[in-house]
Amino acid sequence: MDNKRFGVAIIGAGDIACMHIDAYLRLAEECEIVAISDLNGAKAEKLLATSGVRADVYMDYAAMLERDDVDVVSVCTPPFLREGPVVAALAAGKHVVCEKPFAASLEECDAMLDAARRYDRKLAVMLQTRFDREVTALRRIIRSGTLGPLAFATAENHHWRGDAYYRKQWRGSWETERGGVLMNLGVHTLDVFLWIVGQLASVKAETGTLGHAIATEDVAAATLRFRDGTIGQFHCTTVHAANRNAMAFVGKTKTAALHPLSFMAMKEDEFGFPIPDPEAEAALAKLAGREGETEPFPEGFAGPIADLFAAIREGREPVTGGGEVRATVEAVTAIYKAAATGREVRLPLSAEDPWYTTEGVRNGMTSR
Ligand SMILES: NC(=O)c1ccc[n+]([C@@H]2O[C@H](COP(=O)([O-])OP(=O)(O)OC[C@H]3O[C@@H](n4cnc5c(N)ncnc54)[C@H](O)[C@@H]3O)[C@@H](O)[C@H]2O)c1
Repeated sequence: MDNKRFGVAIIGAGDIACMHIDAYLRLAEECEIVAISDLNGAKAEKLLATSGVRADVYMDYAAMLERDDVDVVSVCTPPFLREGPVVAALAAGKHVVCEKPFAASLEECDAMLDAARRYDRKLAVMLQTRFDREVTALRRIIRSGTLGPLAFATAENHHWRGDAYYRKQWRGSWETERGGVLMNLGVHTLDVFLWIVGQLASVKAETGTLGHAIATEDVAAATLRFRDGTIGQFHCTTVHAANRNAMAFVGKTKTAALHPLSFMAMKEDEFGFPIPDPEAEAALAKLAGREGETEPFPEGFAGPIADLFAAIREGREPVTGGGEVRATVEAVTAIYKAAATGREVRLPLSAEDPWYTTEGVRNGMTSR
């Protein structure tokens, strides 16, 4: 496998598949798209034609997975059709790039992780935000301890989506989307928030459907307690005209924030009031810039894919590996459980917890 180009196949030729195709084309020195499958073969043909890619079209992905020249499979099906194709691709000996949301529940997540272990294949999740330059810089700064112990951290994922957005067949329903704004959009920000700060100890939350006629939530807000004591606030919605993602990490005298990446540092005067500390701010900016060094992987959809290729060659876990992302699945579940029960939820959630299963999450959220 060392110098060979990876043969790539795609399952699901819908809206997001073109982003995977673009990413593979950007990485053409390392890979070649050889096949694509969709229940609607004409849709796959059309996608190939508009992308200028020559590959074979299948309506049955099982037949496509029999090909020896397929090494890596992108799974771009809707959330309720995630586990089947992922496990089938792993069982056929393929490495997998799986679209988000990775799993509707910890049960589904663990089934896919078990398959990756059993068939000794890599499983990466398309959480491309982990490869944003500003996010990686911010993580480096927080993880270096330069801000000191965090007291407080906030993250928001604000979108505006109209009613037509929710007319897509699988959106807005617990059976098919498996969650609302938290599961499908907020998950990007929640994932990097946890990736930067660390493991959760407990969650309190509220969710609601306030701006659309859908069954799933379009607003979610949570207070998070991290294991290191940091208190966090996270909220996401599709009824916010600002369309904005932001984060702030607050140490005793220094703060780092996104977007844009910015820093603030204070010293105290003799009465305990703040005086700006430009030297400390400059030191943080320098750490963020890391002059002369380049990031190993591209931004956007090519990031998780290039990292997966490197992970296969180096025999390591991908940055967005399924095991890495399990904590995000658990956090989403805990937020839903806390919102539905009105109680604080402590982590980890055990396999005996009714909210461990996809059915348990759905029942819990629809019977509130
Ligand atoms: N990473 C991101 O930023 C990002 C952005 C948008 C969407 N997504 C995710 O991508 C996933 C797909 O979203 P979409 O908007 O492309 O959906 P879509 O409905 O446009 O496309 C899904 C496609 O899968 C096909 N499909 C279903 N079952 C199949 C099967 N058994 N075999 C082959 N094809 C099958 C459907 O026919 C359809 O063409 C969702 O989970 C969504 O949340 C991720």
